[in-house]
Amino acid sequence: MTTSSAPGKIILFGEHAVVYGRPALAAPVTQVHADVDVSDSSRPGIWIDAPDVSLHAELNTLPSDHPIASVINNLFFLWRVSPFPNLAIRITSTIPVASGLGSGAAVTVALTRALASYLQHSMSDEEVNGFAYEIEKLHHGTPSGIDNTVVTYAQPVYFVKDQPIQIFHVGKPFTIVIADTGIAAPTRESVGDVRRLWMNDRSRWETIFDKIGEISFTARRAIEAGKPEVLGELMNENHTLLQKLTVSSPELDVLVGFARDAGALGAKLSGGGRGGNMIALVEPENAEAVSLSLMAASAKNTIITQIA
Ligand code: MEV
Repeated sequence: MTTSSAPGKIILFGEHAVVYGRPALAAPVTQVHADVDVSDSSRPGIWIDAPDVSLHAELNTLPSDHPIASVINNLFFLWRVSPFPNLAIRITSTIPVASGLGSGAAVTVALTRALASYLQHSMSDEEVNGFAYEIEKLHHGTPSGIDNTVVTYAQPVYFVKDQPIQIFHVGKPFTIVIADTGIAAPTRESVGDVRRLWMNDRSRWETIFDKIGEISFTARRAIEAGKPEVLGELMNENHTLLQKLTVSSPELDVLVGFARDAGALGAKLSGGGRGGNMIALVEPENAEAVSLSLMAASAKNTIITQIA
């Protein structure tokens, strides 16, 4: 049996603008992860067992555009695997689906690595990342590639679309509380809506993307200089710009407000928006209080994580 695991992720700054070439910062969240086991099967076929999404099926019975089927079929095509071996693939994940925490990218990366290792195909991180980006493009419209990149490398990244990955240095660790609205919101939809806005009035939205890009740039410098306290105000500014982009939601705004009232240094939505998760920068000693306040508001779950 071979096993592989990939973490969830948060976008610290720059979501949506990153699709239009502006920089963004993302970090892995190891408290949640997707895990894949691949082993021999005594039954003919490739049997997929993914209890979290109630999937128990043989590969050939899945539609060809099914995300898991497309990973397996595309990899086996690339590797010229013929005939297909009899396999049992078990996929589990603690990353909530459609919540902005990178669940799709994590399943793709873990499944790709587990199959590569089972079939003894060596794959560099760059190859895994490139393949995962192709899969993201099949299912998410016009992704920037940030999700697959941070999940593949499992390190904080400063990401600019179509440029080599930059892993940034964290001068002083800082603490983030992540809170889930519990509302599933596919990234594809918010990314598509922003694209429609942009197509109708490019100069207006390009100005907003520029401002978001400047925030990401400033945030990177503050993180590298060991001044994370500066990030709170930058998060608040970034959230306001995301509201203008129409990708926040009443539920996200409520959690952002509660986090600030409970003493967070700043807060914003994270990921595609419209639902999913928000993040708050907190002093470590205040993390528990902010988390409790978010749960008392309406959060379905919270995670306290350190970016180091
Ligand atoms: C999703 O985590 C981040 C977005 O900017 C989409 C993307 O970059 O592909 C909303």
